[in-house]
Amino acid sequence: MSALFEPFSLREVTIPNRVWMPPMCQYSAAPEGPDTGAPADWHFAHYAARAAGGTGLVIVEATAVSPEGRISPYDLGIWNDTQVEAFRRITRFLASQGTVPAVQLAHAGRKASTDRSWTGGAPVGPDTHGWQPVGPSALAFDERHPVPDELTVEEIRDIVGQFADAARRALAAGFEIVEIHGAHGYLINEFLSPHSNRRTDAYGGSYENRVRFALEVVDAVREVWPQEKPLFFRVSATDWLEEGGWTADDTVRFAAELHAHGVDLLDVSTGGNASDVRIPTDPGYQVPFAARVRAETPMPVAAVGLITEVEQAAKIVANGEADAVLLGRELLRDPSWARRAARELGAEVRVPEQYHRSV
Ligand SMILES: Cc1cc2nc3c(=O)[nH]c(=O)nc-3n(C[C@H](O)[C@H](O)[C@H](O)COP(=O)(O)O)c2cc1C
Repeated sequence: MSALFEPFSLREVTIPNRVWMPPMCQYSAAPEGPDTGAPADWHFAHYAARAAGGTGLVIVEATAVSPEGRISPYDLGIWNDTQVEAFRRITRFLASQGTVPAVQLAHAGRKASTDRSWTGGAPVGPDTHGWQPVGPSALAFDERHPVPDELTVEEIRDIVGQFADAARRALAAGFEIVEIHGAHGYLINEFLSPHSNRRTDAYGGSYENRVRFALEVVDAVREVWPQEKPLFFRVSATDWLEEGGWTADDTVRFAAELHAHGVDLLDVSTGGNASDVRIPTDPGYQVPFAARVRAETPMPVAAVGLITEVEQAAKIVANGEADAVLLGRELLRDPSWARRAARELGAEVRVPEQYHRSV
């Protein structure tokens, strides 16, 4: 039996295998009207296909805790009951396939209010459903992006509360796992890194101050998220800056703290917070960051980034570099990648009864 297809249990949730789908924005929700931010037909078909394909865990794309927390006006959100109801159809179907449904809760911070990626992803203003973004400091991401409004301490507390409210709604929507989006230069990542956080109050300056907002979000979510259900955190393990950024050493220290605060797994990505860096993109280029956290802390990890080959994925798990692998673009190409991998490895994976003639 390949380690890739062994179940993995965290708290009281068992994920049937180690082939997981990472969050990937579809920019396909209504930008206005009563269904704003609610999953639509596209989302159902998209997530359902990966569940039917044998994916053990599906993490639904970055889902905003408030309208201003969306990356684009077309993002999913989970700040009202209409959205909760629409998510239920997806979580029900995923569960019916034996796939564990998870959702990534997000606030886009200074990188909010942009167009869809396939039309260029440029910032959009109020005339095209946009808004003024916020951040830890009045520093733009790059010359294309507007300077965000610096959040007041009261506004920071409001956002912590929005993450907790969103977690409560995620539970009502039928999700088994919540992932907090602390990566890719969005709000939580912006607070973590000295590159984007220039505050002089309790939320900036020292390492302890820069992680404060993230830990407050984790604590607030953990308080409302049931003890028997796992909590994930996605981190950018490095800004890829030579100096003045968040580093792999910071990530190791932070991982141990997150674990002590009740986070059950670190989803280890990199980058997204500094605009002018070169990121090496060889196969599995982020795996060493995950492996280091797993080796040096008690935190379980998932590895992500250019993991596409069956043998490559199987080795990462078998060698103990990660507890699971997340396949993003490869699952966009092949929704049944997990079934194909199980076949190649001679392992068992659930196949929908309707497809029994294809086994
Ligand atoms: C279309 C698309 C949308 C994405 N949206 C998100 C997102 O919502 N949240 C997130 O943390 N990462 C997002 N990512 C990053 C992926 O989760 C993943 O980390 C990245 O694609 C690298 O993995 P891969 O090489 O297997 O695709 C997105 C990537 C793609 C291709």
